Amino acid sequence: MVQPGNKKSASEPPPPAEVLRIANIIYFRSQVFEHTEWMGHKAVKCPMDMWVYQELMHKLETDLLIETGTLLGGSALFFAQMFELMGRGKVISIDIELRDDLPQHPRIEYIEGSSVATEVLDQVAAASETANSVMVLLDSDHKAPYKHEEMRLYAKFVTPGSYMIAEDTCFDAYPAFPEYGPGPAAAVQKFMAGNADFEVDRSLERHMITFVPGGFLRRK
Ligand SMILES: C[S@@+](CC[C@H](N)C(=O)[O-])C[C@H]1O[C@@H](n2cnc3c(N)ncnc32)[C@H](O)[C@@H]1O
Repeated sequence: MVQPGNKKSASEPPPPAEVLRIANIIYFRSQVFEHTEWMGHKAVKCPMDMWVYQELMHKLETDLLIETGTLLGGSALFFAQMFELMGRGKVISIDIELRDDLPQHPRIEYIEGSSVATEVLDQVAAASETANSVMVLLDSDHKAPYKHEEMRLYAKFVTPGSYMIAEDTCFDAYPAFPEYGPGPAAAVQKFMAGNADFEVDRSLERHMITFVPGGFLRRK
């Protein structure tokens, strides 16, 4: 057993994949994401993934994060405040229907509309033109055909070395939500078939509990 202050042996094997799969299903199905907040605003996220996003934003010197799916704005506020700490960057958060009570922050720009609408994509393209390091986080409609279309349309905004993150691949990967049917994991599978521009980075699942298994796509 690892005690505080004791180093875990590097040769100690990780838990078997099946144990992790079940642990992830238990975590997701507890629906604790319904009670996960950032600074008082609900963020429907796995906190382990939030930590990884922060690590990536710092390492890649991200200066534009494009989020599809705002909901209550907790994730947008998290990204904006991380940017504030880093002294650069902004978030574009897109939702088909923006609520009136979203958190406001100088580093957040909300856009209302479908994430695949031409006028929305034009605004995203304009913002991307002046950014050096762009990350895309797809967290809107999770049905496989829609997610795949989003991936196809947003891939071009991701700068080399940065990531497109297909949120909630856990639905149909573990699967944690089999009732949903083909979702983000199916979309990733289709997007990645024969795709030479992106690679799946599983090293970002090192915290073991994640809503994005196989969904961290690194642009080469
Ligand atoms: C999973 S929630 C987003 C969660 C949020 N990013 C968070 O972490 O708290 C999905 C959101 O996507 C929005 N949405 C659904 N279809 C959409 C579409 N076609 N375009 C843009 N947003 C969409 C919904 O209105 C909903 O607010």
